[in-house]
Amino acid sequence: MTRHGSPLLSASGLRKRYPGAGGRAGHLALDDVGLELNAGETLGIVGESGSGKSTLARVLMRLTPADGGVATYDGIDMLRPSATEALRLTRAVQIVFQDPNSSMNPRRTVRQALAEATRVAATPAAGTEDRLVDLLDSVGLSREKLDAYPHQLSGGQRQRVAIARALAVSPNVVIADECVSALDVSVQSSVLNLLLDLQRELGLAYIFISHDLSVVRHMSDRVMVMKSGRVVEQGTSADVLLRPRHTYTRELLASVPGLGDG
Ligand SMILES: Nc1ncnc2c1ncn2[C@@H]1O[C@H](COP(=O)(O)OP(=O)(O)OP(=O)(O)O)[C@@H](O)[C@H]1O
Ligand SMILES: [Mg+2]
Repeated sequence: MTRHGSPLLSASGLRKRYPGAGGRAGHLALDDVGLELNAGETLGIVGESGSGKSTLARVLMRLTPADGGVATYDGIDMLRPSATEALRLTRAVQIVFQDPNSSMNPRRTVRQALAEATRVAATPAAGTEDRLVDLLDSVGLSREKLDAYPHQLSGGQRQRVAIARALAVSPNVVIADECVSALDVSVQSSVLNLLLDLQRELGLAYIFISHDLSVVRHMSDRVMVMKSGRVVEQGTSADVLLRPRHTYTRELLASVPGLGDG
C-alpha cells in the first residue's frame, strides 16, 4: 500500500483486441482485466501460452495501446500520461523480458547500455563509472564485464545485465515477463534469488509473469490466473496454488508434478 492506503499500481477493465487478418474481427487478447499491486510485493501472473500475460505487460508499459480500461500508477494515468508523467513512469516502472539476446543491442557494450539507461534517471551520479560499477555489483557481476559485448556473456549474465539496466533508474516496480524461461534450470534459481534479494534491499514491487507455476509460487505474495484474456482467479499464493477454486487453476496445477506436495 502507499501512504494513502491505495495500491501503488492498479488497473481495471483493460481490453485489447489485435486486428485480425483480412479485416476479420481479430483476437481479444485482454478482456476486462484488472489488477492491484502494492508497494514491495510480488504479484505473480500465470496462465497457458496465449492467455494474454505479455499483452497485459506491454499495455502497462505503453508498448501496445489498450482499447479500453484504466491503469494508474501513484495517481498517474499509465495509458495516457503527459510528457512529464511519461518520464516519471519510465523512472518508476521498468520491464525485463524473456530473451536477453533480443533486448540487448549486440554492437553495444554493457557500459554503453547501462550508461544510456542511467541517463534517464538524470541523477548527479548518472553515467559515472562508480554508478555503473555499483549497478553491476548489485546484480552480482564484476566491473570487468563493463566492456563486454553481449555475445561474450552467458545467458544468465546477459539477464543480470538486463536487470541492472532496469534498476538503473531506481524503479519502484519491475515487470518480469518470463525473465528466466530462456535460462538453464541451474541458472534460473540464481537469477530468481537475485530478484528476491533486490526486492528486500530496494523494496521493489514485481509483476512476475511466468508459465512455470513452481517458479511463481517461489516468487509471489499474490497470484493471478489468466485464461483466454480473462482473469479466472486471484488471491494469495497459498489460496490460489494450494486451495484453487477454479477448475482451470486445478488443471494447471495438476499438470505440474509435485507442486501440491508443499
Ligand atoms: N502483435 C500481435 N498481433 C496479433 N495477435 C497477437 C499479437 N501478440 C499477441 N497476439 C495474440 O494475443 C494472444 C495473447 O498473446 P500473449 O503474447 O499476450 O500471451 P502470453 O500469455 O504472453 O503467452 P506466452 O505464455 O506464450 O508468452 C495470443 O492469442 C496471441 O496469439
Ligand atoms: Mg508471453
